[in-house]
Amino acid sequence: MKDLIFKSESVQDTEKFADRIATLIKKHDLILLKGELGSGKTTFTRSIINSKYFANDINHIVPSPTFNLLQIYEFGNRKIGHADLYRVQNKEEITVLDLQKIVDEGSLIVEWPEIIDSSISANILNINFEIHNNSINLLVEDGGGWKDRIRSISFKS
Ligand SMILES: Nc1ncnc2c1ncn2[C@@H]1O[C@H](COP(=O)(O)OP(=O)(O)OP(=O)(O)O)[C@@H](O)[C@H]1O
Ligand SMILES: [Mg+2]
Repeated sequence: MKDLIFKSESVQDTEKFADRIATLIKKHDLILLKGELGSGKTTFTRSIINSKYFANDINHIVPSPTFNLLQIYEFGNRKIGHADLYRVQNKEEITVLDLQKIVDEGSLIVEWPEIIDSSISANILNINFEIHNNSINLLVEDGGGWKDRIRSISFKS
């Protein structure tokens, strides 16, 4: 069951929704982004990192993590990681990234998270990106620890 569905009809819509999620992110959060190629996962992630809750600079450029698997950003005392596991072939490549450490020290957003096992201890937010004819639907679901926060979004919309 989905807790919230956000219909995005433009890149700006996705950016606006990301900004709203950014207001809610706390230490120990793990945000898992699933969905087909080109469905807006990186667009969403960059908006969060560039938002005033993190980079606080609209011109801040977030490099693509596709080839590095993981980028970690530190803004003052806030730390946020962005992993893209699309190219990962085996679980050993994940082990060395020590994703648990990032979640312990800050928050982490993961694209293509299917290969991660469920051993990471965190508050989890699942977002599935679904491409439709004229929109992209973001299906938002609590994975443990996000229920009240998701509810706070839906009440405002
Ligand atoms: N409503 C929308 N929200 C987000 N992106 C959109 C939307 N409509 C069109 N786009 C376009 O779709 C593309 C999304 O690319 P993006 O890299 O964010 O996807 P992705 O899910 O990260 O892909 P990948 O699985 O390859 O990492 C961008 O070129 C963007 O301009
Ligand atoms: Mg991407």
